[in-house]
This record gives sequence, C-alpha cells and structure tokens, in this order.
Amino acid sequence: MASRIPQSFIDDLLDRTDIVDLVDGRVKLKKTGRNYSACCPFHKEKTPSFSVAPDKQFYYCFGCGAGGNAIGFLMQLDNLNFPEAVEELSSKAGLTVPKDDSITSKAASAASQAKTQARNQAYELLNRANHYYQSQLRRHSERQKAVTYLKGRGLSGQIAQRFGVGYAPTGWQNLIQELAPKAEQEQALIDCGMVVEKEENKRRYDRFRDRIMFPIKDYKGRIIAFGGRVLGDEKPKYLNSPETVVFHKQKELYGLYEARQQERNLKRIMVVEGYMDVVALAQHNINYAVATLGTSTSSFHLERIFKLVGEVVFCFDGDAAGLKAADRAMHTCLPFMEDGRQARFLLLPDGEDPDSLVRQIGCDKLTARIVDATPLSDFLFQRLSQDLDPHNLEHRAKLATDANPLIETMPKGIMRSMMQARLSKITGLDKDTLEELSALKAPTPTPTPADQTPAKPADKQALTTTPASTHDYADYPMADADSSIHHEDPHWHHEHEQYQTQSEAGPSSGPNPHFSATLPKVQNPAQAAIRVLLRHPESAEHVSQVPSHLSELRMQDATVLTQLLNTLHTMHKALNRWPNPSELHIECATWDAWPMLQQLAAMESLLPKGNYPQQLQEAIHRLSEHHLEERFSQLLHLASQTNADKNTKQQLKDLLKEKEELQNRLKSRQ
Ligand code: UTP
Ligand code: MN
Repeated sequence: MASRIPQSFIDDLLDRTDIVDLVDGRVKLKKTGRNYSACCPFHKEKTPSFSVAPDKQFYYCFGCGAGGNAIGFLMQLDNLNFPEAVEELSSKAGLTVPKDDSITSKAASAASQAKTQARNQAYELLNRANHYYQSQLRRHSERQKAVTYLKGRGLSGQIAQRFGVGYAPTGWQNLIQELAPKAEQEQALIDCGMVVEKEENKRRYDRFRDRIMFPIKDYKGRIIAFGGRVLGDEKPKYLNSPETVVFHKQKELYGLYEARQQERNLKRIMVVEGYMDVVALAQHNINYAVATLGTSTSSFHLERIFKLVGEVVFCFDGDAAGLKAADRAMHTCLPFMEDGRQARFLLLPDGEDPDSLVRQIGCDKLTARIVDATPLSDFLFQRLSQDLDPHNLEHRAKLATDANPLIETMPKGIMRSMMQARLSKITGLDKDTLEELSALKAPTPTPTPADQTPAKPADKQALTTTPASTHDYADYPMADADSSIHHEDPHWHHEHEQYQTQSEAGPSSGPNPHFSATLPKVQNPAQAAIRVLLRHPESAEHVSQVPSHLSELRMQDATVLTQLLNTLHTMHKALNRWPNPSELHIECATWDAWPMLQQLAAMESLLPKGNYPQQLQEAIHRLSEHHLEERFSQLLHLASQTNADKNTKQQLKDLLKEKEELQNRLKSRQ
C-alpha cells in the first residue's frame, strides 16, 4: 500500500519551490505589476488571463478558473497524480520524498516541522531587522554620515531603495531593544545571526553596529542574511551573517533576486566579487550582476545560474587573487558546459574592480568589454599554456596532460569535441594519444565538498612544474650537444652539497614517491652507480649483464657507467676474481672521464653504509626508467607527426605499459 507523504515535507517542499520559476519554465511569464501573466496553458485564449502571484505562491486563470499551488500546477499541466507531482517537484528541489509509515519517519517529520518553524521565525525577524535598518537610514540622528557615504560612492536613493540598503546605527543594543524587548525573545535573534552572545560572560549584543547594511535575499525575495560595511577604513571592512537555518553562503548569490525583479527574462548573469560591485553596476544600468558572498563560485551557484540563463560572465580583478578565482571558476564551470551554454571571463586591469571601472568608463564601454570577454575555451588554453613554449615537445605534452582531463570533465557535446580538436591541433596529438597521456597523469584530487572547487587550481605554480614526460629526471644533466655537462659542471658542486645534507639527514625522503629509500638523493643515478662500483668493484657481480639500453641513453655518465661495467667484467674474466678498487682505478686512469671518476671516488665517505649491490641495482633501475622516458619522448614526437603510423602508436601504448610496470616494480621495492 502506498504510504502517505508527511505534511511537513510538503510544506518544506513548497517552501523551497518558487512557483514563478516553475511556471516560467513551462509557460513564458510577463511581469504585470506585482504578479506575472501569460496565456493560460489550460485553455485556448488570445489575451492573457492566466496569472501567478509570487507573494501567495499561487496561480489562477480568470478565463477558465484553473488555480492552485506549485503541486497543483504540475498535476494539472502534466496530468500527474498527487504523489507523482510531489516526486517531480522534490527531485527538482533536490529532496527525497520520505515515507510516513514508521516511527522514525514520524520523528523525522517532527524534526522537519520544527525546522520549518525555525526558518519562518528567522525570515520574520530578518525582515523586521531590515525594516529597522532602512528606517534608520531615513530617521537616525546620525543618518547624514551614512547618506553622505552612499552618495560618495555614487549611489542614488532609488538604487539604495531597490537593494534595500539600510544603516545599523552605533550602539550595542539597538536591534535587541527593537526586536526583542523581552529577554526570552533574544535567543531567536541569536539563532538568525543578528545578535552575538559572548561565551565568557554570556553578554548579548547587536552583531552589526555603525555599518551600511546590505540585505541578502533568496530567490523568493525573503531576507536570509546581511552584509554590513564600515563607513571608514576600520576592519573588518565587511561583516556577514553567519550560517543559519536560512543562510548557506555557499549557495547564495547576492543580487540575483534584484536582477530578476528588474528583468525576468535575463539573458546573461555576471559574477563579481563584491556587494558594492553589484549595486554600483545596477546604478549604471548593468542589472545582471551577482556576487558570491566571500566564497569562490560553487557548483550550487552555477546550477542556479544556468537554470536561469545560458550565459555567465566571470568578472574578477586582474590581480593574483582574481586570477586564482577565475581559475577556480573555470574548473567548476566545465562540467556545466552543455552545448548552448556560454561562459566568459573578464579580468579587469590591476587595481580596478567593477565598481571603480563602471564609474570611470561608464555603462557602454564596460558593456562592450563584457560582451567581448574571453570565452571559456580561449581562457582555458591561455591559462594552461602560459609559460609553455608551443615549439617545445615536452611543453606540448605538458599542455596535453593538463588540458585533456579538464576538457573531459565537460559534458559530451560539440563544445567538448571542439576543444579536444583544438588541443589536438596545438599539441599535434590525436584523441587516442591524448587519452593515453591523461591516463599517465596522476588523478586530479576530487573537488572538496565544501566549496566544490578543485583542490588543484591551475595556478601559476602548478603550471610551471616540469613537463610530465621527464618529471623524474628534470634535474639530470643530459649529454645533449648543447648542454653543458662537463666534469667541472657547477651542478656538480651543488650536487655534492646536496648529497651531504641528504646523507646527514638520513635516507632520502624526496618528493618523488619512486625515489628509493636506500639510494641517497643525488641528481644522477649513473653517478650513483659509478660511485658504488669504484669503491666496491665486487658489487658488479650483481649486474651480470650490462643492460644494453644504457649506451642508448643520451647521458654521458651512463656511457661512462657502461664502460666501467664492461671493464669490470673483462677484468673479472682475466683475474678470475673481482679487482680491488686500486686495480680498477689504474685501469681507468687513462679515460677521458677519469677526472670525474676521481671526484666520485673521493666521495667514499659520503656513500651510505651497507647494501652496495642494492644501491647499484636501484641506480640501474632508475636509469632503465629514464631510458623508457626518453623512448617515450621520441615516440611522442613521432606520434605527433601527422602521418604517424599505427605501429608508432602501438609502440607508444606498449611503452606506457612497460613504464607502468617498471614504476610498480620500483614502488614495490620500497
Ligand atoms: P573587496 O575587499 O574586494 O571589497 O571584497 P569591495 O567589494 O571592493 O568593497 P568596497 O568597494 O571597498 O566597498 C569583496 C567581497 O569580499 C567579501 C565581501 O563579500 C565583499 O563584497 N569581504 C571582503 C568580506 O566578507 N569581508 C571583508 O572584510 C572584505
Ligand atoms: Mn570596491
């Protein structure tokens, strides 16, 4: 038997639903005075007699008599029964319909009833507080300083009125006296965030004092919180209501209600950083700005925005913080980028905010910049390829490994395909290869539930890390024709120092998880291997075969290592035992590399004690890994040629697998 839906849930559901939004989503509404009207969806007509009242959350048709609340509207329009309409509305509101057939659900329903009551009480108090603040702006003896401040910021009385701007006078007990003449009424003011109780002495006082007050409204226009600005330079500049039963700052956008009041059929919403920006823009007739409330743009925000409009513009300051905010917004925005939606970025000149800029250049010029703001796709590529050289293969690989996973968070569609195509064009890598590369990259941390922003913003630091394909070996001096790997390389002394501090500090604990626990942190495993062999030639026993790929490495030290291993094996054959260090040194004294060998041998005291064969083997393992990296890089280059054959791609795949196995082997050894 179907169970009854608790009344408290239905109340809660209706409370969270705006009938204007619901109806407007199905029948385009026009604002007519306090209400909205349209041609009735329930009977044929040419002139509108269907009307929706936002304050009563009710619809009514003067033509056919149809009428009801949000649930009734869905039932009538979609021919649903009551539970079906509740189900539909609940899923829109993100609620789950509870069943009213158990003791627990009774308890839950009592709790939810209490919550609804608490919310209603908060709405009422906040509304009264707002009336009080607005009246103080008109009547208080010190009203002039507040009015002068607002005028000084270029705001007319009309705009202040539209945003319900008020003034909280100086003094600790004004609001308490006004709204809670009896002590037992004070708790409710604490609950809705307007009064603070000091923990030590339980003293209670008004949270907002001597501040310009901006009421924050929800989508139905109910006041849910306040932001208060000081009139001078005191700190904190803005004070905001705390989280309460009615206020979750992560979900709210300041100015959204006012923007919709001004224009029901918004085309675009612009996200800015501050209250004053929203109000100043409205003063200059830009009526579609909203502000996040001191938080970054969240998924909740974007969900709400894209329910209303198809286009969002993020307008942030051009400083480092603004760029960071823009990067975060970009990350959060990508999963919302269905075809037909647009997101753009407008970074303002350093030192300007929308408020200062609109006052300086006016509505038309600012609008031109807004319309011309950088599309998300351009912004993404600009940000990710900053500091990268498009002619450098590894930089291109870096761009591919950074951008592809981001693009993959977009919903499937034309826009996503176009961005992938663009990435392919820039990097010269086809879709399959890009996917393989993304798989190589360590998974990006998932967004924190708190603000839904990726934990790894693509900030400058993240962008300047070493290209992925060589990240383990970035510091290695390479035997390139143009690189300066010489035995007197200044690197060398640096390494020497590093080695010393590392060995004093005990086993290495470098940032690379593949880095061995026993191998000291030197910048070149070939040198590490040579050092072991020079002092402990017998360890060569454990490298029965000289790995052929060592000689393929474009690293001079690896060539010397090969030579040393070959010499040792030859000597072993001739002597029928492993040579001692002096015998080996005599043998090597004629080599070009001898000065370097000598230096390495002199570092005996720095060699970690113990397991030399293991140190040697680990060094050689790391060289193998490096060899794979090099081949990978070469193949990547081949794959990027337009006429890359299947064979190259197969090799690339095999190599990825080989690399993974090697890394697993290295990991499991630790
Ligand atoms: P800004 O410091 O950029 O201030 O803060 P603003 O918007 O330019 O303010 P004016 O022009 O000096 O009046 C941007 C937003 O950050 C939050 C507020 O939401 C503010 O609108 N904020 C800032 C705070 O919550 N507290 C503060 O102390 C400062
Ligand atoms: Mn400002």
